[in-house]
Amino acid sequence: MNKKITKICCIGAGYVGGPTMAVIAQKCPHIKVTVVDLNEARIAAWNDPDTENIPVYEPGLSAVVAEARGRNLFFSTEVDKAIDEAEMIFISVNTPTKTYGSGKGMAADLKYIELCARQIARVAKDDKIVVEKSTLPVRTAEAVKNILQNTGNGVNYQILSNPEFLAEGTAVEDLHAPDRVLIGGDTTPEGQSALASLVEVYNNWVPRERILTTNLWSSELSKLTANAFLAQRVSSINALSELCERTGADVTEVARSIGTDSRIGSKFLKASVGFGGSCFQKDILNLVYIARSYGLQEVADYWEQVIIMNDHQKSRFANNIVKTLYNTVSGKKIAFLGWAFKKDTNDTRESAAIYVADALLNEEAGIAVYDPKVPESQVYFDLNYLGSRDADKNKTQVTVFTDPYEACKDAHAIAILTEWDEFKAYDWKRIFDNMKKPAFVFDGRSIIDSASLTEIGFKVYTIGK
Ligand code: NAD
Ligand code: UGA
Repeated sequence: MNKKITKICCIGAGYVGGPTMAVIAQKCPHIKVTVVDLNEARIAAWNDPDTENIPVYEPGLSAVVAEARGRNLFFSTEVDKAIDEAEMIFISVNTPTKTYGSGKGMAADLKYIELCARQIARVAKDDKIVVEKSTLPVRTAEAVKNILQNTGNGVNYQILSNPEFLAEGTAVEDLHAPDRVLIGGDTTPEGQSALASLVEVYNNWVPRERILTTNLWSSELSKLTANAFLAQRVSSINALSELCERTGADVTEVARSIGTDSRIGSKFLKASVGFGGSCFQKDILNLVYIARSYGLQEVADYWEQVIIMNDHQKSRFANNIVKTLYNTVSGKKIAFLGWAFKKDTNDTRESAAIYVADALLNEEAGIAVYDPKVPESQVYFDLNYLGSRDADKNKTQVTVFTDPYEACKDAHAIAILTEWDEFKAYDWKRIFDNMKKPAFVFDGRSIIDSASLTEIGFKVYTIGK
């Protein structure tokens, strides 16, 4: 018989820990779910009486939090206490690309994972099921197991891998009705019993046939593989977008034509200024690093090309702006509509907008940013983090607006970097009237009907057309 779970703790209250645990709490009122984090400001925001102020913006999330918080969902900075109480502990901390030492710029930095494992080992007094929710290199569970099992305090641990497949902007939808939930565990009877306990948690709302179970290593590697395949599709269509621009083919028509083949499928074929987000690049770099560390050079080179293509797409978009604006943007105002890496999120990590801005700032352009969900401080943080120029210079060259019409006023060009729906509903005639002429739009997301913009008088560039 497997253990029935009544108390869960999740270490890491970020974009994954917060939403996933909120949905588990919503769907399993009989389970007490405590989400802990070292970041006091983040926990305070999760506890804000007004659930509209929670730190992660996701459609539908504040309602889920409002329903479960205080009932069986808790956010806290008391990590030890939550570990001690829980029967099942999810690790959902960040696993960024290493910025130092061996594997710098490629391998996943596992220091936060190791710290969690050590903390659990120090605190736990009774048997625990430890669930890897973070995305990890294949065979990480082995290291976690080693740390936990060598404490000598008689506690038994079972390690499960339960990678998360939600996409930002649709997190609640994805968590409510996932294509699949993946759980990997040891093939021993104890491993299978722990696995059954987690299956039971998800089975409160996910049909059993959608809960896939595998061994630990398959589960860990499947997560990296899924992200690599998704990113590869974006780079594939983006590679074709450049060829479309040269040949007169239209990438939207090409995508539709190939997408109706059920073997190819229609999703994830939208050409863009390049994929962003905290995970695609990091996870592919990690995959490349793992392949190289096993001496699999061709495998590593194959996947690395997905990143090379994505970098090319971002710089080609920026170069095209400079070239079209008569080979100089120095002293010109370029308005950016969108800063987030995709619509319906306030997350800007690895957003294409940051890199396009950086390239234009190098050419001495002035940039006016408007994004419906990203605050001014985040825009400066992202540019300063990149480190291409000092903070004062970023502050002089970049202005952040809360009104899109003000951002576009007197601009020489508009660049659309995020596919926010509201952009389609703007009064584009009014925007045109207040811009420098000729007025250009560079649509990096193919969201605005280029014919109607051209009719107003804009000169329009749409990716892949
Ligand atoms: P995040 O940076 O938003 O959140 C991680 C949180 O962990 C931070 O708040 C940090 O303070 C906290 N933390 C780090 N070390 C800690 C410790 N020792 N004790 C307590 N708290 C600690 O990251 P995220 O986007 O939620 O991603 C987490 C993991 O999930 C990553 O491995 C990522 O690859 C994976 N993932 C992310 C997404 C996504 O959409 N963002 C989707 C699927 C998987
Ligand atoms: C992605 C995966 O879709 C999730 O399954 C996974 O859990 C997650 O990464 C993760 O591991 O972090 P996410 O990055 O949130 O989710 O968002 P996506 O919808 O995948 O978009 C990623 C980027 O690709 C965005 O910049 C988006 O604009 C871009 N994209 C996506 C395109 O340019 N074209 C497309 O057709 C699709």
